[in-house]
Amino acid sequence: MIDDKFLKSIKNLPPFPATVQKVSALISDPDFSMMDLVGVIEYDQAITANILKMCNSAYFGVRHKISNLRQAVSYLGRENIVRVVNAAGTSRYYKKAEGYYIDEAAKLWEHSVGVALMTQILSRKIYGREDNKLFTAGLLHDIGKVVLGEFVHESFQEIMGLVTDHGYSFLEAEEEVIGINHAQLGGEIAVLWKFPREIRDAIAYHHRPDLMEEGDDAIPWLIYLSDQACLMMGIGGGVDGLAYRGLGEVIDKFNLRQKDFEESIVLLLKDLEKAKELVDLVESESKG
Ligand SMILES: [Fe+2]
Ligand SMILES: [Fe+2]
Repeated sequence: MIDDKFLKSIKNLPPFPATVQKVSALISDPDFSMMDLVGVIEYDQAITANILKMCNSAYFGVRHKISNLRQAVSYLGRENIVRVVNAAGTSRYYKKAEGYYIDEAAKLWEHSVGVALMTQILSRKIYGREDNKLFTAGLLHDIGKVVLGEFVHESFQEIMGLVTDHGYSFLEAEEEVIGINHAQLGGEIAVLWKFPREIRDAIAYHHRPDLMEEGDDAIPWLIYLSDQACLMMGIGGGVDGLAYRGLGEVIDKFNLRQKDFEESIVLLLKDLEKAKELVDLVESESKG
């Protein structure tokens, strides 16, 4: 049973942005049009404003001022627009995260975007296509940390002690000291946000997909693999569980070759740079 104080905190989280959800659903249809995209975004003033700011920034070097969403979408292209919507739409969740788990909120956001992007790179290699459920699950896999981070200040030393002196994993130490780990808590948040079961499971089992008793475990394993790849590359979001299962074994599970995995990491670093650039741009412009 989930503790009351956690439940309250979960309820205080802003609702998951509908625009991000709608855009995710739209892009799963390979024939979606520019106009479909405009139709979904134009109701979200904040995201529309950000897109216009971005278009008119020096980064894109546009000659004439772009003043409406339709022009912006055709100028930036579908891919850039989708990236901006996803990145800008989720960054605010992680802005409030600080404290025990997270040395910097920006790092948790970067880690989450990194995991989301990596799931898409792997999905293209394994299934030949992208998968928006995986992307969303990747973005939100550590959302439990945002809530848990508020409560574990006093328990931090105790958790660290169990890990360093008694051989506990971080997840076990969380469970022992506070009764729930960040993955389980994230699963509860996904239930409250009415996400489909696959997304909830992927979040709840992202450190231990082997414990899943029913349902398809491919999504949790892909989140696991992407998470570990990011941790390996130093794209971390604070204290978290290290590999439970050897990466080689998981790579084999998806019939990937070591070479595919290494290529994926190179692509990830490029994609993450791009995503960061776009969001930094939006944020620095809105401050200035
Ligand atoms: Fe985690
Ligand atoms: Fe993570």
